[in-house]
Amino acid sequence: MTLRVGLDLVELPRFSEALARRPRLRERVFTEAELRLCGARKDPAPCLAVRFAAKEAVGKLLGTGVLSWREIEVIGHAPPVVRLHGRTHEAARARGIGEIALSLSHSRGMAGAVAVSGGAAQASGGIGGRSADLGQGE
Ligand SMILES: CC(C)(COP(=O)(O)OP(=O)(O)OC[C@H]1O[C@@H](n2cnc3c(N)ncnc32)[C@H](O)[C@@H]1OP(=O)(O)O)[C@@H](O)C(=O)NCCC(=O)NCCS
Repeated sequence: MTLRVGLDLVELPRFSEALARRPRLRERVFTEAELRLCGARKDPAPCLAVRFAAKEAVGKLLGTGVLSWREIEVIGHAPPVVRLHGRTHEAARARGIGEIALSLSHSRGMAGAVAVSGGAAQASGGIGGRSADLGQGE
Protein backbone atom coordinates (compact mmCIF):
# COMPACT_ATOMS: atom_id res chain seq x y z
CA MET A 1 0.00 0.00 0.00
CA THR A 2 1.61 3.22 -1.17
CA LEU A 3 0.61 6.37 0.67
CA ARG A 4 0.32 9.21 -1.84
CA VAL A 5 -0.18 12.94 -1.36
CA GLY A 6 -0.53 15.95 -3.65
CA LEU A 7 -0.67 19.64 -2.71
CA ASP A 8 -1.35 22.79 -4.74
CA LEU A 9 -1.83 26.48 -4.05
CA VAL A 10 -3.52 29.08 -6.27
CA GLU A 11 -3.25 32.88 -5.95
CA LEU A 12 -6.88 34.00 -5.92
CA PRO A 13 -6.46 37.47 -7.49
CA ARG A 14 -4.44 36.00 -10.39
CA PHE A 15 -6.98 33.22 -10.85
CA SER A 16 -9.91 35.67 -10.85
CA GLU A 17 -8.12 37.88 -13.40
CA ALA A 18 -7.47 34.87 -15.65
CA LEU A 19 -11.16 33.90 -15.49
CA ALA A 20 -12.20 37.45 -16.38
CA ARG A 21 -9.64 37.76 -19.20
CA ARG A 22 -10.31 34.34 -20.78
CA PRO A 23 -14.04 33.59 -20.78
CA ARG A 24 -13.53 30.11 -22.28
CA LEU A 25 -11.24 29.04 -19.43
CA ARG A 26 -14.26 28.05 -17.30
CA GLU A 27 -15.53 25.53 -19.85
CA ARG A 28 -12.04 24.22 -20.65
CA VAL A 29 -11.14 23.48 -17.04
CA PHE A 30 -14.41 22.76 -15.21
CA THR A 31 -17.24 20.26 -15.71
CA GLU A 32 -20.90 21.25 -15.88
CA ALA A 33 -21.45 19.96 -12.33
CA GLU A 34 -18.56 22.05 -11.00
CA LEU A 35 -19.79 25.16 -12.82
CA ARG A 36 -23.32 24.61 -11.52
CA LEU A 37 -22.09 24.16 -7.94
CA CYS A 38 -19.84 27.26 -7.96
CA GLY A 39 -22.24 29.32 -10.10
CA ALA A 40 -24.76 29.15 -7.27
CA ARG A 41 -22.32 31.03 -5.00
CA LYS A 42 -22.39 34.81 -4.62
CA ASP A 43 -18.72 34.83 -5.67
CA PRO A 44 -17.89 31.72 -7.74
CA ALA A 45 -14.13 32.49 -7.92
CA PRO A 46 -12.95 30.93 -4.58
CA CYS A 47 -15.11 27.84 -5.22
CA LEU A 48 -13.54 27.44 -8.68
CA ALA A 49 -10.02 28.25 -7.43
CA VAL A 50 -10.03 25.50 -4.76
CA ARG A 51 -11.25 23.08 -7.42
CA PHE A 52 -8.47 24.19 -9.76
CA ALA A 53 -5.97 23.59 -6.91
CA ALA A 54 -7.59 20.19 -6.24
CA LYS A 55 -7.14 19.15 -9.88
CA GLU A 56 -3.43 20.01 -9.71
CA ALA A 57 -3.10 18.29 -6.32
CA VAL A 58 -4.65 15.11 -7.77
CA GLY A 59 -2.31 15.39 -10.78
CA LYS A 60 0.65 15.42 -8.39
CA LEU A 61 -0.75 12.55 -6.35
CA LEU A 62 -1.07 10.47 -9.52
CA GLY A 63 2.44 11.49 -10.58
CA THR A 64 1.25 12.28 -14.09
CA GLY A 65 0.40 15.94 -13.65
CA VAL A 66 -2.97 17.08 -15.00
CA LEU A 67 -3.67 14.98 -18.12
CA SER A 68 -7.02 16.66 -18.76
CA TRP A 69 -8.65 19.23 -16.48
CA ARG A 70 -12.22 17.99 -16.87
CA GLU A 71 -11.21 14.38 -16.19
CA ILE A 72 -10.64 15.38 -12.54
CA GLU A 73 -14.02 16.47 -11.20
CA VAL A 74 -14.56 17.86 -7.71
CA ILE A 75 -18.20 17.78 -6.70
CA GLY A 76 -19.85 18.52 -3.36
CA HIS A 77 -18.19 20.62 -0.69
CA ALA A 78 -18.83 19.12 2.75
CA PRO A 79 -16.98 16.91 2.09
CA PRO A 80 -15.67 17.52 -1.43
CA VAL A 81 -15.61 14.34 -3.50
CA VAL A 82 -13.26 13.66 -6.42
CA ARG A 83 -14.36 11.66 -9.43
CA LEU A 84 -11.91 10.66 -12.15
CA HIS A 85 -12.84 10.05 -15.75
CA GLY A 86 -11.27 8.79 -18.97
CA ARG A 87 -7.48 8.57 -19.23
CA THR A 88 -7.05 9.98 -15.72
CA HIS A 89 -9.29 7.24 -14.31
CA GLU A 90 -7.16 4.68 -16.16
CA ALA A 91 -3.91 6.24 -14.86
CA ALA A 92 -5.21 5.93 -11.29
CA ARG A 93 -6.33 2.35 -11.83
CA ALA A 94 -2.95 1.42 -13.34
CA ARG A 95 -1.25 2.71 -10.18
CA GLY A 96 -3.62 0.82 -7.88
CA ILE A 97 -5.12 4.06 -6.61
CA GLY A 98 -8.70 3.62 -5.39
CA GLU A 99 -10.12 6.31 -3.20
CA ILE A 100 -8.76 9.84 -3.10
CA ALA A 101 -9.63 12.08 -0.15
CA LEU A 102 -9.52 15.86 -0.59
CA SER A 103 -9.22 18.81 1.74
CA LEU A 104 -9.80 22.31 0.34
CA SER A 105 -9.18 25.74 1.87
CA HIS A 106 -9.11 29.41 0.88
CA SER A 107 -8.47 32.80 2.35
CA ARG A 108 -8.83 36.17 0.60
CA GLY A 109 -5.52 35.74 -1.18
CA MET A 110 -4.93 32.02 -1.60
CA ALA A 111 -6.77 28.82 -2.41
CA GLY A 112 -5.27 25.41 -1.74
CA ALA A 113 -5.96 21.71 -1.85
CA VAL A 114 -4.44 18.50 -0.49
CA ALA A 115 -5.22 15.12 -2.02
CA VAL A 116 -4.41 11.84 -0.21
CA SER A 117 -4.75 8.19 -1.15
CA GLY A 118 -3.62 4.84 0.21
CA GLY A 119 -4.93 5.05 3.77
CA ALA A 120 -5.54 2.05 6.00
CA ALA A 121 -9.27 1.99 5.19
CA GLN A 122 -8.38 1.49 1.53
CA ALA A 123 -6.17 -1.47 2.46
CA SER A 124 -9.17 -3.17 4.07
CA GLY A 125 -11.27 -2.76 0.96
CA GLY A 126 -12.33 0.86 1.03
CA ILE A 127 -14.45 2.91 3.38
CA GLY A 128 -17.29 3.25 0.88
CA GLY A 129 -18.28 6.60 2.33
CA ARG A 130 -18.70 10.07 0.89
CA SER A 131 -15.18 11.31 1.63
CA ALA A 132 -13.73 10.07 -1.62
CA ASP A 133 -14.75 8.26 -4.75
CA LEU A 134 -12.66 7.31 -7.73
CA GLY A 135 -15.76 7.46 -9.89
CA GLN A 136 -16.46 5.77 -13.17
CA GLY A 137 -15.00 6.55 -16.57
CA GLU A 138 -17.29 8.55 -18.85
C1 LIG B 1 2.44 18.64 -12.08
C2 LIG B 1 1.80 20.02 -12.02
C3 LIG B 1 0.40 19.84 -11.43
C4 LIG B 1 2.68 20.95 -11.19
O1 LIG B 1 1.97 22.12 -10.89
P1 LIG B 1 2.58 23.61 -10.90
O2 LIG B 1 1.50 24.50 -10.40
O3 LIG B 1 3.18 23.88 -12.23
O4 LIG B 1 3.79 23.57 -9.91
P2 LIG B 1 3.85 23.80 -8.33
O5 LIG B 1 4.68 24.99 -8.09
O6 LIG B 1 2.51 23.73 -7.70
O7 LIG B 1 4.63 22.50 -7.87
C5 LIG B 1 5.89 22.22 -8.35
C6 LIG B 1 6.36 20.96 -7.66
O8 LIG B 1 5.45 19.91 -8.00
C7 LIG B 1 6.17 18.68 -7.97
N1 LIG B 1 5.85 17.99 -9.22
C8 LIG B 1 6.10 18.35 -10.49
N2 LIG B 1 5.66 17.44 -11.35
C9 LIG B 1 5.14 16.44 -10.60
C10 LIG B 1 4.53 15.21 -10.91
N3 LIG B 1 4.36 14.79 -12.17
N4 LIG B 1 4.10 14.44 -9.89
C11 LIG B 1 4.25 14.84 -8.60
N5 LIG B 1 4.81 16.02 -8.25
C12 LIG B 1 5.25 16.78 -9.25
C13 LIG B 1 7.64 19.00 -7.87
O9 LIG B 1 8.06 18.76 -6.54
C14 LIG B 1 7.67 20.49 -8.16
O10 LIG B 1 8.68 21.14 -7.45
P3 LIG B 1 9.95 21.77 -8.26
O11 LIG B 1 9.35 22.79 -9.20
O12 LIG B 1 10.79 22.34 -7.20
O13 LIG B 1 10.54 20.63 -9.00
C15 LIG B 1 1.69 20.66 -13.40
O14 LIG B 1 2.92 20.55 -14.06
C16 LIG B 1 0.62 20.19 -14.31
O15 LIG B 1 0.42 19.06 -14.63
N6 LIG B 1 -0.10 21.21 -14.77
C17 LIG B 1 -1.17 21.05 -15.64
C18 LIG B 1 -0.70 20.73 -17.03
C19 LIG B 1 -1.64 21.25 -18.00
O16 LIG B 1 -1.81 22.45 -18.14
N7 LIG B 1 -2.25 20.34 -18.75
C20 LIG B 1 -3.12 20.73 -19.78
C21 LIG B 1 -4.31 19.82 -19.78
S1 LIG B 1 -5.52 20.41 -20.91
